[in-house]
Amino acid sequence: MHAVPSCVVVTGASSGFGAEFARRFAQRGADVVLVARRRDRLEELASQLQDSGRVRAYPIAVDLAKPGAVDDLMDELAVRGLRPDGLVNCAGFGIDGPFADADPARVTSLVQVNVTALTELTHRLLPSILASGSGVLVNVASTAAFQPIPQIALYAASKAYVRTLTEAIWQEAKGSGARILALCPGPSRTEFFAAAGSERFNVGQMVSTDEVVDAAFDALAHQGAGPTRIVGWRNAVQAHLPRIVPTRAALAVTAGLTKD
Ligand SMILES: NC(=O)c1ccc[n+]([C@@H]2O[C@H](COP(=O)([O-])OP(=O)(O)OC[C@H]3O[C@@H](n4cnc5c(N)ncnc54)[C@H](OP(=O)(O)O)[C@@H]3O)[C@@H](O)[C@H]2O)c1
Repeated sequence: MHAVPSCVVVTGASSGFGAEFARRFAQRGADVVLVARRRDRLEELASQLQDSGRVRAYPIAVDLAKPGAVDDLMDELAVRGLRPDGLVNCAGFGIDGPFADADPARVTSLVQVNVTALTELTHRLLPSILASGSGVLVNVASTAAFQPIPQIALYAASKAYVRTLTEAIWQEAKGSGARILALCPGPSRTEFFAAAGSERFNVGQMVSTDEVVDAAFDALAHQGAGPTRIVGWRNAVQAHLPRIVPTRAALAVTAGLTKD
């Protein structure tokens, strides 16, 4: 790891990758702001992290699906006098089934959480991340970010957005000293499948939460690391294949992987 940010906002900190990112940054001496909807989970994690006596942990319950949520979060940070120079955007979820059949409210929420809130928070915190000299931005995409995927079309599209946005920011940030990373895990046994109510997302090489977060910190530690880290070598091979085959062939393969 290069120099540790002084204060890291972690969205999705109530479970899965986000909770583990919060633990790891706290172990490294960063204060952490824990963001998700489930306040009890955030408060429990915050008190565990503060028990070390080394760091402050701030639980802030926010529903990122609500328009204006990022403004509210920025207000909460300001009230506490916090100026984060680190951000890990983990909050996200998936919807499965044909896009035409998806519940309209879930569609809007997915775009709001996976795309809009991530974008707004990245945009609002990026200046301090770039200015800090030890700033970090990790945006969690997915191996689903590399090709269109029937049956999980919106989720895959949202992750493609996260990946390309973050990769472009990586280039723009060159020379600032900040570390920018588009993290692309394969399927992992977090609460993600239960939240989606589906196993359809279980495509590719299964990876553990530790492997995912280890891979992120390994990428952050290496100055020469690229903008993207795919977790799991078989996932990396699978992610790059669609770049060299016609889209209709890639679609036929992914349709086969996600069919009922
Ligand atoms: N697990 C996988 O297979 C996998 C693979 C590739 C990428 N990913 C991505 O990794 C990220 C983390 O997922 P995970 O695997 O750790 O799943 P998870 O255990 O289900 O965690 C998702 C987190 O997002 C938060 N969240 C969901 N909706 C929210 C909302 N409206 N407002 C605020 N927070 C919200 C949840 O907190 P609350 O419910 O408390 O709000 C939870 O903390 C996601 O972006 C996911 O797409 C996961």
